[in-house]
Amino acid sequence: MIVEPLRSDRPIPIVVRPSSKSEATLSSLLGYIKGNKKFIEDTRLKNGAILFRDFDIENASDFEQVAHLIHPNLNDGYLGVTARTNRTKYVFTCKYLFSTTEVTNIAPIGQHTEMAYMTNRPNRIFFCCLKEPKHGGETPITDMRQVVLDADKHDPNLLKQFKAHGLTYYRNYSTPGTKVKDIAEVRSWPDIYKTTDKTEVEKVCAKDDIECIWHGDALSLVSKFPAIRKHPETGDEVWSNAVPVFYPRMRTYEFRKMIQTIGTWWYYLMYLLWIVIESLRRLFIPDTQCGLYVTYGNGVPIRTEELFKIEDIIWDNMVTFKWKKGDVIYIDNDRVSHGRLPYFGQRQIVCALGMPDVKSST
Ligand SMILES: [Fe+2]
Repeated sequence: MIVEPLRSDRPIPIVVRPSSKSEATLSSLLGYIKGNKKFIEDTRLKNGAILFRDFDIENASDFEQVAHLIHPNLNDGYLGVTARTNRTKYVFTCKYLFSTTEVTNIAPIGQHTEMAYMTNRPNRIFFCCLKEPKHGGETPITDMRQVVLDADKHDPNLLKQFKAHGLTYYRNYSTPGTKVKDIAEVRSWPDIYKTTDKTEVEKVCAKDDIECIWHGDALSLVSKFPAIRKHPETGDEVWSNAVPVFYPRMRTYEFRKMIQTIGTWWYYLMYLLWIVIESLRRLFIPDTQCGLYVTYGNGVPIRTEELFKIEDIIWDNMVTFKWKKGDVIYIDNDRVSHGRLPYFGQRQIVCALGMPDVKSST
């Protein structure tokens, strides 16, 4: 096998690929993983993400075998904000936010660590490309340990409020069966919890340290978590949260960064369309009533200019690569974030969530 960084100027991802055609089979990859578990874990710990490329991964079941071998404790359920359906017991579609209409594909999804707004969150995440998108649809990743180091270097006070107060996340769900107010609300609460029994919902949420606030049959889920967490193995501080996904004004800024740094012509068209959608949204729905919203942990609104500075640092550290069919990426969710760039045309990326063996304490 050939093992080398994708880019010489970034630690992530390390790429593992076959050195010959005979090494490209699924069984060869599984054999490699079996024989190199320590190397894979050491590399994950040192670098943060490993991309297995050019192997014969044809479907969700192949992918599940790879993910399961690397991290046996995969999650077979999903209680997060996005629309996902099971493809196998442990493999989900990864439609992310805004998946239900064509409009959805035009929205960038900012860098986040998976399910940072709940206690029982994955410590690893795997993605696999079953159909490579022709136009956009990359899944950029960012070393969030480096983001904290760079932010502190840039301005020692930049992360001060986040370190002191953490974050409060709000997820607002309309009364089931009524028209949703905001496109960030892609699932109804009975769809997430597979019940209409409010007491049952409260019990499940309590396990994740999420408070349920009922407004008749509408529901707000409120949870308070750190913005910066210590990596459980290295102790390094990591910008580990879902602020760019929950902060409504961030999506417009994401577009600006995309145009500045990547600048594909159709981003401009999508941006124009997005400006119309976002202007209408702001006209009718205040930020605080969006499907997703976030404040500092003490309830004070986040200072937008502070957030944009951090976002600049994230973009400086981001690694973007074109998906190739059969790609499997193994990500340390305690250190490396992911997002999604807009796309049009077909795209099929699936994911698996690796859970820690014990309940996370951060
Ligand atoms: Fe995600």
